[in-house]
Amino acid sequence: MAAGPDEDRWWRGGVFYQIYPRSFADSNGDGYGDLPGIISRLDYLADLGVAALWLSPVTVSPNRDWGYDVADYCDIDPDFGSLEDLDRLVSEGARRDVRILLDLVPNHTSDQHPWFVDARRGRDAAHRNWYVWADPAPDGGPPNNWISVFGGSAWEFDEPSGQYFLHNFELQQPDLNWWNGDVRDAFDAIVRFWWDRGVAGFRIDVCNMMIKDARLRDNPPATEDDPLDQQLMGVRSVYNSDRPEAHDILRRWRAISDRYDPPRLLIGETNVEQLATLMQFYGNGHDELHGGFNFVFINAALDATSMRAIVEEVEATLPDGAWPLWTGSNHDVSRLATRWAGGEGAKVRCALMILLCLRGTPFLYQGDEIGLTDGPIDQADLRDAVGIRFWPYYKGRDPQRTPMPWSHAPGGGFSPAGVRPWLPLTDAARRNVADQVEDPDSVLSFTRRAIARRSGNEDLALGSYSSLDSPEDTWVFQRGRGTVVALNMSDAARETSGLRGSITLATDREREGHQVDGVVTMAPWSGLVVET
Ligand code: NOJ
Repeated sequence: MAAGPDEDRWWRGGVFYQIYPRSFADSNGDGYGDLPGIISRLDYLADLGVAALWLSPVTVSPNRDWGYDVADYCDIDPDFGSLEDLDRLVSEGARRDVRILLDLVPNHTSDQHPWFVDARRGRDAAHRNWYVWADPAPDGGPPNNWISVFGGSAWEFDEPSGQYFLHNFELQQPDLNWWNGDVRDAFDAIVRFWWDRGVAGFRIDVCNMMIKDARLRDNPPATEDDPLDQQLMGVRSVYNSDRPEAHDILRRWRAISDRYDPPRLLIGETNVEQLATLMQFYGNGHDELHGGFNFVFINAALDATSMRAIVEEVEATLPDGAWPLWTGSNHDVSRLATRWAGGEGAKVRCALMILLCLRGTPFLYQGDEIGLTDGPIDQADLRDAVGIRFWPYYKGRDPQRTPMPWSHAPGGGFSPAGVRPWLPLTDAARRNVADQVEDPDSVLSFTRRAIARRSGNEDLALGSYSSLDSPEDTWVFQRGRGTVVALNMSDAARETSGLRGSITLATDREREGHQVDGVVTMAPWSGLVVET
């Protein structure tokens, strides 16, 4: 299948890297990562070979949900620096061929955003209709049975005005009313504000939830066939999520993006259960998202049969001209080194080889490149409101948000020595960037070689995908005309046949440069890229 127009090459062939800014690099010793910290690590990121960074929110926030509750969409939170710092990040990134994407949070604002502060003044307030308000049910209770993703009713009663407002997440994150044209116009201005400054695109927060049923109908009861989270909520979220009208909003932003040179990227947080639903966010392949995160893949086991089936379905159903994304970690899910690999280096390398060799743009999450595992979090360390609420049944998202270990120095090179970071470091003495840079057999060195190989080989960067026959628990696929990727995803050695050419990338570095011709014995949890 065609790789797309030239203007798409940089991102389709590139590798993206998600930064959780609060945990990346602390330049001023306050325990929080910041924009100057990211700038100070740009050389590292450029050497790693990434094409773009996606930054979780750096806009002004009271941090009920650590940035995902925005109080000003057009300014930088002082914890992270200033607009000038952001401009400098964009220009310093450009000098190194690394572009910057920001996070857009359109489903809700902070309750401290001036729009909501005004909306709360009363039923006649200018911004009242910018949010979703409804009268109580006849019994005085919430208007319907919608449940917040973070637990409890999605409705909060506003005593003075006698109405409820909707919050699909925290109570302090009131949902915007996307039926209102003024909200749409305001966001048109917001996306232009950043794109005019040279920001290369957005990752769009919960873009499948943005708009709700206009009649606020009750959700139907969940059944045994529904995903576990819906079963736990007791309802199937069909009226407060995945509404067809969300696509109108995406088409509107895509039309704006297409007027830029180069077009700005729209990457969606499409946290949907079905691949068929994910495909809808690509529209006709050219008029909605450039890419949607594949949570079916993220949530899959590191298992050849299930992963191959997901990839094959994506390949078969993606609209013509569209392009997949692949990722294994982010700030909301356990890191791949823990969740997929159980901390085992061989499995981490296999997972990275999969992400970096499939057809589609890989998104690494900070630390994936060194095999960083989830951090140890005690109850006293908790920062995530969701973890605080559900501890000990659910420990929240802090384990995957612990700071980046840059070195084995005190403070892990994240904050200056003696400063306590906002979340505890994961064992930096054992796994850190500085040590791995020096070690040719480290996970980091493997990741660098894999990214470099991908950039140097048109098949891997942009070529087609096809599955090849292979023994149980192995996954062998061809990319483009002459590149084959073979993975043994089992605890036993396996033989694969039909591999011919030279090994240009291997999870075991010793094998690189060797020729193979036919049957190849593969060690447990190992992978090879063979080029003819
Ligand atoms: C998805 C974000 O990734 C998550 O961190 C946040 O809590 C929710 N959306 C609400 O914005």
